[in-house]
Amino acid sequence: MSGFFWTALPYIAFATLIVGTAYRYWTGERGWTTKSSEFLSKKSLMIAGPMFHLGLLMAFGGHVIGILIPKALTDGIGISEHLYHIIALGGGIPAGILFLGGFFLLMRRRFDTPRMKVNTSTMDGVIYFVLFLTLITGFGGTLLNAVGLLGDDFNYRTCISPWFRSVLAMSPDVSLMADTPLIFKAHVILAMFTMILFPFTRLVHCLSFPFEYFMRSAIIYRRK
Ligand code: HEM
Repeated sequence: MSGFFWTALPYIAFATLIVGTAYRYWTGERGWTTKSSEFLSKKSLMIAGPMFHLGLLMAFGGHVIGILIPKALTDGIGISEHLYHIIALGGGIPAGILFLGGFFLLMRRRFDTPRMKVNTSTMDGVIYFVLFLTLITGFGGTLLNAVGLLGDDFNYRTCISPWFRSVLAMSPDVSLMADTPLIFKAHVILAMFTMILFPFTRLVHCLSFPFEYFMRSAIIYRRK
């Protein structure tokens, strides 16, 4: 079974992400939206929205650096393991707090009021649940690792990161994931499920940054 998770599942996830997103765009462009609910409940969104999205951008940057840049390269330019760890935690812990804290505030807003609840679909519920598990295992793993509870020998840059790059190189090396702690195995599997679900959820809005907002004049809303 572990062979499936570390060899076939990543390709199923990438293929569903790319083909599913393209299919949704071509067949249902009008439904390509995050279904803004700002007009239903605005106050808490002003803090929760930026908090969640800033945390997401920071964590995304951390993943790109931690997973795509080989340890040999950072060693080669003189960044010691200790220094790398300090930099990673210095960015990673605030990122995790913002990401998870923003997520909790967004969920409280969504499930607190009846009018928000009726505007929440089953698919919204499914992606919120999978996202929650992905965030909690990622941040939980980071914190457990920071306090040494995942063992002295564990370093994700010598197992998860080279495994992920081996997948990108179309030659997945399953053995690299063998000794990875359960919490990070769960995190990576959940992340792949997030990718599989992505095209069928409101998350697609992140691919449509509204650049034209900067050019057009403001829309004025007035109270009745
Ligand atoms: C296959 C893709 C992914 C891999 C291989 C992966 C791997 C990792 C690893 C190794 C860490 C530990 C980083 C550290 O300790 O500094 C981590 C942390 C984390 N991951 Fe992922 N991840 C993936 C996708 C995702 C996705 C899709 C999400 C969110 C939706 C996510 C959310 C997080 C969060 C919130 C943390 C905590 C890091 C922080 O505090 O900045 N990850 N992930």
